[in-house]
Amino acid sequence: MSDLSSLEERGLAELKACSTETELRAWKTRYFGDRGDITLALKQVGTVPQAERRAYGQKANQVKEFLNSAFEDALASAKRQDLERSLVSERLDVTLPGRWVPTGRLHVATQVLRQIYAIFADLGFQVYRSREVEDDLTNFELLNMPPHHPARDMWDTFHTTKPGVLLRTHTSPGQIHVMRECCPRPIRVILPGMCYRYEAITTRSEIMFHQVEGLAVGTRVSMADLKGTIIAFAHRMFGEDRQVRIRSSYFPFTEPSIEVDMDCIVCGGKGCTLCKRTGWLEIMGAGMVHPTVLQNGGYDPEQFSGFAFGMGPERIAMLKYAIDDIRLFWGNDLRFLRQF
Ligand code: PHE
Repeated sequence: MSDLSSLEERGLAELKACSTETELRAWKTRYFGDRGDITLALKQVGTVPQAERRAYGQKANQVKEFLNSAFEDALASAKRQDLERSLVSERLDVTLPGRWVPTGRLHVATQVLRQIYAIFADLGFQVYRSREVEDDLTNFELLNMPPHHPARDMWDTFHTTKPGVLLRTHTSPGQIHVMRECCPRPIRVILPGMCYRYEAITTRSEIMFHQVEGLAVGTRVSMADLKGTIIAFAHRMFGEDRQVRIRSSYFPFTEPSIEVDMDCIVCGGKGCTLCKRTGWLEIMGAGMVHPTVLQNGGYDPEQFSGFAFGMGPERIAMLKYAIDDIRLFWGNDLRFLRQF
């Protein structure tokens, strides 16, 4: 019986000395495991002399119950302390800077396209989307270039394996689509989109690039309207004091045809490497819509007239940001793209 009392004392003392859950679990095995002190003490009931057996058994069970409930209490409080400790030591610091989430950005060509849309929106032009896969008829023939026409050489073409189906070489075929959809109403649209040319890739030419076509059709649309529109655009895009120069040119689908230059943004017209010492930078081709093209679009050229222009937004971006290689646009080099 006195063994049981000292077992109880020792068990309690050792339990009190445990400070962590691991220590408590080790204690539990030591006392309650298969060969634990309590387990053994209980097994001994049978060896105790008959007269004392009952009292011994009762006492042994009391000690077992007592130590077991002391253990449960100690375990619960150790767990609570562990939690409190971790709440203090592993506290979430809400003032730490967050993890960096990489964000995308608009491609520089898209940014410039959107600036162009905004400027022309203010001038009353709507955006009209037209297909990139075209047919020979719309890309050339209806634009006044029959199959034999030498001017077709100006547009080196990606043909598909299906005869007559090609990737558009310019956005001008879109003129036909808008006119046929809108005739006989007046038109004021821009037609942005990707164009493709079977060309050697250099710092100045790519096989894919954007164009923004402009088309205005009405009963009294004149060259003066074209000039005014172009100048307003150049001023909004490049600054109020830009000079615009117009040269005569040739396109099969406009008559007369012009090419538009702007005084060089780097040297202001004195001559530098950007403008190849000419003082001028070419920004677009344009002209009055050819009567045949108006007719192909469903408009009577006796009654209607129109102007059209076409520019390359990548070229515009190159001028605006002094980018010296057009290949950078579709080269997917983030070091370049992240600068805009
Ligand atoms: N489509 C012509 C080109 O690709 C540009 C242009 C458009 C010229 C409209 C005149 C009128 O070069």
